[in-house]
Amino acid sequence: MILLLPVTLALLFGTVILVLIFHQFFLVKHHEPKGLPSGTMGLPFVGETFGFFTPHKSFSIGNFLQEHRSRYGEVFKSYLLGSPTIVSCDLELSRFVLQNEGKLFQSCYPKSVSDILGKYSLMIVTGDLHKKYRNIEVGLINKFKCTPDSLSNIDKLCVSLMKSWRGNPLVLLSKEAKQFSFNLMLMNLFDMKPGEPLGLQLLEDFHTFMKGFVSIPINLPWTPYAKAMKARTRISSTLKQVLKDRENRKDVEVLNGPAKVDPSDDNLLKEHLRDVLFAGYETTSGLLSLLVYFLAQSPQALQNLKDEHRALRRKKKEWEPLNWEDYKQMEFTIMVINETLRCGNLVKFVHREAINDVDFKGYHIPAGWKVLPILSAVHLDPSLHENPSEFNPWRWSEPATSKKVIPFGGGSRLCPGWELAKLEAAFFLHHLVLNYRWTMKEDDYPMLYPYMEFPRGLLISLEAETSEF
Ligand code: HEM
Repeated sequence: MILLLPVTLALLFGTVILVLIFHQFFLVKHHEPKGLPSGTMGLPFVGETFGFFTPHKSFSIGNFLQEHRSRYGEVFKSYLLGSPTIVSCDLELSRFVLQNEGKLFQSCYPKSVSDILGKYSLMIVTGDLHKKYRNIEVGLINKFKCTPDSLSNIDKLCVSLMKSWRGNPLVLLSKEAKQFSFNLMLMNLFDMKPGEPLGLQLLEDFHTFMKGFVSIPINLPWTPYAKAMKARTRISSTLKQVLKDRENRKDVEVLNGPAKVDPSDDNLLKEHLRDVLFAGYETTSGLLSLLVYFLAQSPQALQNLKDEHRALRRKKKEWEPLNWEDYKQMEFTIMVINETLRCGNLVKFVHREAINDVDFKGYHIPAGWKVLPILSAVHLDPSLHENPSEFNPWRWSEPATSKKVIPFGGGSRLCPGWELAKLEAAFFLHHLVLNYRWTMKEDDYPMLYPYMEFPRGLLISLEAETSEF
């Protein structure tokens, strides 16, 4: 009896190995279409998923892409997250994929992502539904930046953030930036003031939600994934409460605005609001943290920035809030933001699948295969950008630079929040550089997990800026 156990285990183990070999050689390899880019499908079932998802610094492409690119070229095949995949580090192919959304390719996020975001999330829906929902969400987002009132609210929130740091020599910047950008979203979407109890509840649930979004999708009570699914339900019910409060205050207009969402369709409206919150919150806060990080190491850029904002301040009344015209004058600031997006790589790649067989630049992409345009690989491509890992805002005085980056994706899914994110970052920088000087307290750097995060939270020491305008 005792002897039977090892024999059974050995048989079981042997069978598993045989099944894996069969899968790899007969199902995967022998059914591969002809003319694919070179590459390897890696281990049975998991393919190269672990290598691809190994974290690395965000201003590098990481060992996996580095090795694959030098071995197979800019475009290669692989097996990732359970699907045969074409990985594109090539600007032209990636742009072609993004611009042919709905025709040759379509958005195709893994099931774990759609489980968490919900099946009505803009990133998940395709075709006509995508067009319809995009109009609604673009309407919600444009309301943030199109009215002088909302710009002045953004400015006020920046001022109060700077005040809250007074007498605080040490600040954990990424935490502060997250709270700040969440408050911005709540203020813009729901007219909520920082510190309102429902807002705090939402922030807490969003933390849990985001952790689950980037975790391994195992649905057991203690896993971040399961906790995120629960947080999502709580977020929905808090949003319901928020909507009810706003309705009682008779200002549904705040939510409805130009987007024309039927207020009676509460559920759908909640989905859109949560979606915009999700898409805008950590991306904006990530951008703010990256700006602080890169500027701490680039004294010349910081000095130029201070000069630009001091000149702008001299033209305004003492505490007059910033407006759209001021934003349009912040030329060097925009160069700094663009360079930060290029080096910081907030979104490493996007998920697509081929609807039809596609042949482009000699690469064959079979229908049904996944395609991953790697945005960061384009940004750090030495054939497109000189010394790509160097933070150099001045490269943006060359107009062609903007044609060689895709931080906000492209085509019909181009990020609808791109300008709002830049505007908020510009307002934040204005107040930051006029009020403070800062240095990094710890050796920290942005990592891609693949979401961007500072492992130590970006601890900085602050000193009040004493120089006169
Ligand atoms: C620096 C900040 C940001 C970056 C780098 C960024 C990047 C991106 C990228 C790459 C996509 C395309 C995803 C894809 O093609 O699958 C996207 C989509 C999207 N972004 Fe942003 N984003 C930022 C800020 C924002 C903000 C502030 C908002 C809203 C307030 C927002 C809302 C959205 C939405 C709703 C989508 C989905 C669009 C669609 O599928 O049609 N983003 N973003």
